[in-house]
Amino acid sequence: MSNGAKSTADRTFSTGAHVSRRAFLGGTLASGLLSAAPLTALAQESNTVTKTARRINTPLPAIGLGTFLTFDALPGQSRAHLAEVMRRFWAAGGRVIDTSPLYGMGEVNVGDFAAALGIGDRLFITNKVWSTGEFLGDDSHARRSLDVSMQRLWRERIDVMQCHSLVNADVVVPLLNAWKAEGKIGHVGVSHHEPDYFSALARWVQRDDIDVVQVHYSIHTRQAEERILPAAAERGIAVLVNMPFEKARLFSIVAGRALPDFAREIGAENWAQFFLKWVVSHPAVTCALPATSNPEHLSQNMGALRGPLPDREMRARMVRYMESMPGFATLAAMPPYPNKQYTGVITRAQRALRKHQQ
Ligand SMILES: NC(=O)c1ccc[n+]([C@@H]2O[C@H](COP(=O)([O-])OP(=O)(O)OC[C@H]3O[C@@H](n4cnc5c(N)ncnc54)[C@H](OP(=O)(O)O)[C@@H]3O)[C@@H](O)[C@H]2O)c1
Repeated sequence: MSNGAKSTADRTFSTGAHVSRRAFLGGTLASGLLSAAPLTALAQESNTVTKTARRINTPLPAIGLGTFLTFDALPGQSRAHLAEVMRRFWAAGGRVIDTSPLYGMGEVNVGDFAAALGIGDRLFITNKVWSTGEFLGDDSHARRSLDVSMQRLWRERIDVMQCHSLVNADVVVPLLNAWKAEGKIGHVGVSHHEPDYFSALARWVQRDDIDVVQVHYSIHTRQAEERILPAAAERGIAVLVNMPFEKARLFSIVAGRALPDFAREIGAENWAQFFLKWVVSHPAVTCALPATSNPEHLSQNMGALRGPLPDREMRARMVRYMESMPGFATLAAMPPYPNKQYTGVITRAQRALRKHQQ
């Protein structure tokens, strides 16, 4: 192995996270429910990077799939491209899908496509509750939210339920723990994406009554390394990563640029793999959740599950390389989703809101 890259073959990190090369094959693949080349996919996915956190105790492929905006769609719109994203995701060995009742038609589409592929119960669904209630301590809205999510996802049990953006966390987290005890959900989590709330998120990780923390972490936004990642690793709490591409802003920074030569050492064939391998090579990270509406992008992203991961030195080199690029330091000021157009119910609602505001 050349300098800066490490083999992903069976290695245990001191943080308690474990990464290994292993197949992650579901019986549904064998049953042939996936059309178009499932056998090729079977052959390709036998060396994927998986990670295990003590509190989850199930090896998970280190690349998952987010669904905010990308899986939203207006009723009647074509969804064939999204079905293909899901098919390729499963065929490439993907299992973790992150969604939320807040993501417009996201849950509905995940539920529909999973049912059509016959993989509904084989996916590892990480979902959320965003709910307040009508009076202090009212958990009835959260309960309703869980019922609706289960209907939309065609599931009787959700693998991970997270308190979305820490909304009403003092009520919701104990409720999630009660649902876990009742078997309605597998694991309890909290999530946020704004660094301003990372101290609050870290306090939840340190309280020890959660299994999963979902946090914004990328080669650009690295603040989670200060408290959240070490605290999670110490306690065996799984870390799911949102916004690994900074809502596509990272692709704008590198547009038209070739990868540096050293990217070959970590087996990165494109910028998506460069950014994702950087994220999942942190020992505390369990799974990154890049979102896409584009089957070709999905295939690029899932390629990060294969080949070597950067070691500590290489990770530092990758950061230095990005820091030398114009626009990287001010990336947060760039509008999200540059050159992307999503047309789901969220986009429609946001447009209407802007009209009211004019
Ligand atoms: N709990 C929270 O507070 C929270 C907050 C934010 C996000 N999340 C979760 O984390 C997930 C990921 O975050 P995110 O969706 O905000 O941002 P992201 O994954 O950083 O970026 C998604 C954007 O990257 C583009 N993209 C993906 N792969 C690409 C590729 N290979 N080449 C070029 N462009 C590519 C997508 O466009 P295309 O559609 O064109 O591929 C999309 O516009 C969300 O979907 C959601 O599940 C949670």
